[in-house]
Amino acid sequence: PAKVNMTWDVEYILWAPDCQQRVMVGINGRFPGPTITARAGDVVRVTVNNKLHTEGLVIHWHGMRQVGTPWADGTASISQCAINPGDSFTYEFVADKPGTFFYHGHFGMQRAAGLYGSLIVNATAAQDEPYRRDYDGGELNVLLSDWYHENVYAQAAGLERKDKHFEWIGEPQTILINGRGQHECMLGKVTRYHRGIDRYAKTCVRGKEAKLCRDEERCLRRSECGPYCPESQCAPVVFDVEPGKTYRLRIASTTTLSALNLQVQGHELTVVEADGNPVEPFKVTDIDIYSGESYSVLLTTNQKPTFYRPGAFWITVGVRGRHPKTLPATAVLRYTNSKFDWPGSAPPQTPAWDDIDHSKSFTYRIKALKNNATTKTRPPTSAAVNRTIVMLNTQTMVGGHVRWAINNVSLALPATPYLGAYHYGLQGSAFDAAGEAPDGVPEGYNVSRPPGENEGYAARLSDRVYELPHGALVDVVLQNADMMREKASETHPWHLHGHDFWVLGYGEGRYDAGKDMARLNMDDPPLRNTVVVLPHGWTALRFVADNTGAWAFHCHIEPHLHMGMGAVFVEGVEKMRELKVPREAMMCGVISTSAAVVTPAA
Ligand code: C2O
Ligand code: CU
Repeated sequence: PAKVNMTWDVEYILWAPDCQQRVMVGINGRFPGPTITARAGDVVRVTVNNKLHTEGLVIHWHGMRQVGTPWADGTASISQCAINPGDSFTYEFVADKPGTFFYHGHFGMQRAAGLYGSLIVNATAAQDEPYRRDYDGGELNVLLSDWYHENVYAQAAGLERKDKHFEWIGEPQTILINGRGQHECMLGKVTRYHRGIDRYAKTCVRGKEAKLCRDEERCLRRSECGPYCPESQCAPVVFDVEPGKTYRLRIASTTTLSALNLQVQGHELTVVEADGNPVEPFKVTDIDIYSGESYSVLLTTNQKPTFYRPGAFWITVGVRGRHPKTLPATAVLRYTNSKFDWPGSAPPQTPAWDDIDHSKSFTYRIKALKNNATTKTRPPTSAAVNRTIVMLNTQTMVGGHVRWAINNVSLALPATPYLGAYHYGLQGSAFDAAGEAPDGVPEGYNVSRPPGENEGYAARLSDRVYELPHGALVDVVLQNADMMREKASETHPWHLHGHDFWVLGYGEGRYDAGKDMARLNMDDPPLRNTVVVLPHGWTALRFVADNTGAWAFHCHIEPHLHMGMGAVFVEGVEKMRELKVPREAMMCGVISTSAAVVTPAA
């Protein structure tokens, strides 16, 4: 197989992704990190030099299954020790299948500091994509994220404060498209030029921002370098396309918090891929995308130029599901025959943030591509399920701290990586191995009431895992519940490392195996690595635990994971000893002092 070799210096950089300069974690002096482009089956080899001076780091390859290389999964405390400042570590793994992926830091809240980039795996003759011949125009890469002006240390410190001093990170300042965005009103200049300012201002969520949009002078004074300065790091992305062709947009989201909605003015989108898996194509005017997800959509450049759309169109990305305080992000799709650089009208508005039916109808339409030879689309039948784990998602207090818990357990990661602990047979001393994490929602738990009103419910911190025998067929039901705040329930995108899973179905209220099992989709459930559990609802998924390793399963909202919203699956315990694991990746926690490891028997 071909090799894709890269060497990265990860370091602090000064960068202005939304026109305001901040410190970020960059790769080779830039943000976002370099795009990795591989072909299916290639070996990707990335040497990471940690030049952060004061903090460790790891890089996770989101969507790569790491079959046979669980040590390369890049999750601190789970698959390896963090790479120390000044040290280097080389990841080597197979880009096992074509699709749209990304990579990111997976230690502390480093992803939110800007440590991420795109990972594109192209099809080969041997591993083809069913839609590869359906576009003749080429591909456009669209990596979405959100950005906070507060640095991640302040964010983490606020989340860890006790009791009433708890400080939530709030909404992001800016949505970024390929690492570029405009804080507040920067694009006001463009839209005013084209007379669209008033309508655009209405898409500003707060009066204050709307005013700023009209006050260009003030805008420019507030920015260190406006989006139109030469060399600007925050200039909107412009995608140049030829008219009369079909393009593939590869869209991925690595937001800290925000659920997003993307649309391209005047153009229909045909969804063909989700998380590297072909889906039954369907047409939409806009797509929802949660943190951790990726999609490919096909777009045909079939619009005739008009006065207001002289061949240039807005791509708009707005916030869903939370009362937005962040302006929509914009980029431009520009036909090569366009007379103007910018669209002549205001950017289209994103669907109302609280139109949950709109989100549901999009999410529920995603089905596996039928009659597709390249993937097994059907899961084994329910009769074959070895274990069902119902995971109650609650926000609750633990020792005066606001935490998220799964079946009363709030994940607190140990000093010794699980993979190393099992590999060296040290699990007894590395973490709380006494008993497993609980499999189900406590009997009488009322998911429509806050945890405080559920008698006898008390969450605790733990580093326990779920041990799964090699090859077990596992069902997981994510059960949402009310938060501490009355009547409120949040959206959580759950991501599983090391696997794709079948999304068997969604429902409202409390999952009831007796009646809900029969309603699950056994016919064409989509394969994914990230799935959303919607407010006051549940989501059911199924996977085969056939990948020896220790795999994180967690909410992809960065502060939620930081507050304990995750679990760890350990698969193939009996095979862990035989794994080839680089020693230097495991020299921390109890492993670094274990005589058996440090001085192996002759
Ligand atoms: Cu992209 Cu564990 O996450
Ligand atoms: Cu969450």
